[in-house]
This record gives sequence, C-alpha cells and structure tokens, in this order.
Amino acid sequence: MRKFVVVGSLAGTIALVIVATGIHSTSAQDPAGGALDSLAAPTLAASDTAALKGPRQPIFFRHDIHALQFKIPCQYCHYSVSVASEPGIPSLQTCMGCHLVISGTDSTARAEVRKLRTYWREKNDSTKPKLEWTRIHTLARHAHFPHMRHIKAMGPNACQTCHGDVARMPQVFQVNNVNNMGFCISCHIERKVSRDCSVCHY
Ligand code: HEC
Ligand code: HEC
Ligand code: HEC
Ligand code: HEC
Ligand code: HEC
Repeated sequence: MRKFVVVGSLAGTIALVIVATGIHSTSAQDPAGGALDSLAAPTLAASDTAALKGPRQPIFFRHDIHALQFKIPCQYCHYSVSVASEPGIPSLQTCMGCHLVISGTDSTARAEVRKLRTYWREKNDSTKPKLEWTRIHTLARHAHFPHMRHIKAMGPNACQTCHGDVARMPQVFQVNNVNNMGFCISCHIERKVSRDCSVCHY
C-alpha cells in the first residue's frame, strides 16, 4: 500500500514523497476513522459517472481515492475551512503538486489525469476553457454560513455531519438539504446555539 508523507513546501510547491510501504499510516488523519489501508477504490471511468449521484464534474475527481484510499486530509485541499466562511477549493497548482510527478507519463496516465494536465498546460491561454467545478452546496445570498465557527465548535471531522461520508463518494452529491432552514435550526436548538434571524440573515 502506498501512502503520502507531506515533507514541506518549497517556493510554494508542496513537496511530496510517495512511500512504498506495507506499514500503516500513523501521521495522516483518517477521515473515516478506521483501519482502511487495505481498501482499494474501484476502478471507474468517466463514462461510469452517469450512474453516480451528484453532478458530473469537468474532471472525474474522486474523493474515495484521494481522501480514503490515500488518506489525504480534507484540509490539505479545503485549506481555509477552519479559518474562513468559505472552505476553499484546491487550485490547479495544488493538484499538479502531485500529478506532475505521479500517475505516470502522459502516454500511460489515465484519461482524467491527462485532462487535468491539459488544463494545466493551457492555463494561460485565454482561448482555452478554464477548469470550473460545479458547485453542489450553495445557500441563497440572504443566508450566511461560517465554516470556521462550526469546525471550531464541532471539530475538524465534523464535515460528515452536514456533507455525509464524502470520503467514500466517487462523485460528490448532497446528502442534507442545506437550503432548508430547518436543517440549521434543528441543530442550533439541540446545541443551544443562537437562533436570532440576524445571525444567519443579512
Ligand atoms: C485532493 C484534494 C481534495 C481532498 C483531499 C478533499 N477534497 Fe473535497 N473537493 C475537492 C475538489 C477538487 C472538489 C470540487 C469537485 C467535486 O465536487 O468533486 C471538492 C468538493 C467537495 C465538496 C462539495 C463542495 C460543493 O460544491 O458543495 C465537499 C462537501 C467536499 N469536497 C468535502 C471534502 C471532505 C469532507 C474531505 C475529506 C474527507 C475532502 N473534501 C477532501 C478536493 C479535495
Ligand atoms: C497529495 C497528492 C494529490 C493531490 C494534491 C491530488 N491528487 Fe489526484 N491522485 C493522487 C493519487 C495518489 C492518486 C491515485 C494514484 C494514481 O492515479 O496515480 C490520484 C488519482 C487521481 C486521478 C485518477 C483517478 C482514477 O480514476 O484512477 C485523477 C483524475 C486525479 N487524481 C485528479 C486530481 C485533481 C483534479 C486534483 C486537484 C483537485 C488532485 N488529483 C489532487 C494524489 C493527489
Ligand atoms: C454545519 C454544517 C457543515 C459542516 C460541519 C461543514 N460544512 Fe461544508 N458546507 C455547508 C454549507 C451550508 C455549505 C454551503 C455554504 C454556502 O453556500 O455559503 C457548504 C459548502 C461547502 C463546500 C463548497 C464550497 C465551494 O466554494 O464550492 C465545501 C468544499 C465544503 N463545504 C467542505 C467542507 C469540509 C471539508 C468540512 C469539514 C472540514 C465542512 N464542509 C463542514 C455546511 C457544512
Ligand atoms: C450539526 C449542527 C449544526 C448545523 C446543522 C448547523 N449549525 Fe450553525 N452552529 C452550530 C454550532 C455548534 C455553532 C456554535 C459555534 C460557536 O459556539 O461559536 C454554530 C454557529 C453558527 C453561526 C454563528 C452564530 C453566532 O453566534 O455568531 C452561524 C451564523 C451559523 N451557525 C449558521 C448556520 C447555518 C446557516 C446553518 C445551515 C445551513 C447551520 N448553521 C447549521 C451547529 C450547527
Ligand atoms: C441558523 C441559521 C438561520 C437562522 C437562525 C434563521 N434562518 Fe432563515 N434561513 C436559513 C437558511 C440556510 C435558509 C435557506 C437559504 C437558501 O434558500 O439557500 C433560510 C431561509 C429563510 C427564508 C426564505 C424562505 C425559506 O423558508 O426558505 C426566510 C423568509 C427566512 N429564512 C426567515 C428567517 C427568520 C424570520 C428567522 C428568525 C426567526 C430566520 N430565518 C432564522 C438560515 C437561518
């Protein structure tokens, strides 16, 4: 089983070492909280995504491979979740910090990795499309959701409470209807948090 060790950042580029080892990872956070190193994500092609829940993304990006199989912590990519309202979406550069060196050469890499590298190569070419993920959870503009307040109160693994078990999703879909105010209010009642209209509405 391979695992990742984040060894540091150099000139803005994250240096990663891929360790070929049979030893269990102890440094990386396991988002699902179990001994799951032996779990290999199924091989799926982009053409299989139609059968999966959730919107099809421009690149078939798999949380089950990244977050569960390779144990990359959620906050490696959603870098601002504990300090800002918006959790952050990884840049192309973050993806390429790994995919310039792993997943094989262009002739051997999987089609979806080649797609990623094409976006990277063409990033400064204004005639080419930019990589834009389809957003899944979005509140109306009159409502306000601060991620950091929730992560501070509920811990770094609280994601699952609202988003479901994303680490096991080959394609992300919405588990809870976050656009239903009752979803927010019922937990705020349970946890004795403010229900003042002005806390959530501008
Ligand atoms: C290697 C980077 C990476 C890691 C690690 C990662 N994510 Fe993501 N995440 C993404 C990208 C890219 C998207 C946008 C594409 C998509 O929806 O699949 C995304 C989308 C999401 C979304 C949907 C956002 C929306 O549009 O509403 C949720 C929820 C999410 N991630 C939660 C998690 C959780 C929880 C973890 C840890 C268990 C995690 N992510 C780990 C890169 C990552
Ligand atoms: C910390 C390292 C790391 C980062 C960051 C990362 N990946 Fe990966 N990715 C992996 C590993 C490990 C694999 C599985 C082994 C392989 O395919 O080489 C993988 C596999 C993939 C695959 C192939 C999945 C399949 O079907 O086999 C795609 C596509 C992909 N990543 C896209 C992305 C995108 C898009 C981003 C940025 C949002 C990203 N990755 C960020 C490590 C990373
Ligand atoms: C209490 C519920 C709750 C928790 C806990 C929570 N989220 Fe969210 N998340 C939401 C809501 C609501 C939205 C939509 C926010 C909006 O539109 O302003 C959202 C949106 C997102 C998005 C989309 C952001 C974008 O820019 O596309 C990502 C990614 C995400 N969450 C990741 C995470 C991660 C990772 C964690 C855990 C570290 C987490 N969330 C914890 C409720 C939650
Ligand atoms: C699973 C429980 C849970 C859910 C669901 C939840 N919250 Fe919260 N929320 C909390 C907790 C706990 C706090 C308290 C944080 C603290 O004490 O600082 C909080 C705090 C807040 C605050 C800051 C309150 C203040 O006093 O400044 C806002 C704003 C907020 N939540 C909005 C929302 C919205 C909007 C939703 C629905 C989209 C939502 N929350 C869903 C648990 C939840
Ligand atoms: C904990 C956060 C929270 C609190 C407190 C809260 N709301 Fe909301 N409210 C929301 C969210 C989230 C939505 C859904 C936004 C969307 O459509 O994406 C919403 C939607 C609404 C809507 C639009 C209609 C609907 O039902 O979707 C109205 C009107 C509304 N709220 C009024 C109020 C009033 C009045 C109060 C005070 C009594 C209040 N809200 C308190 C989070 C909150």
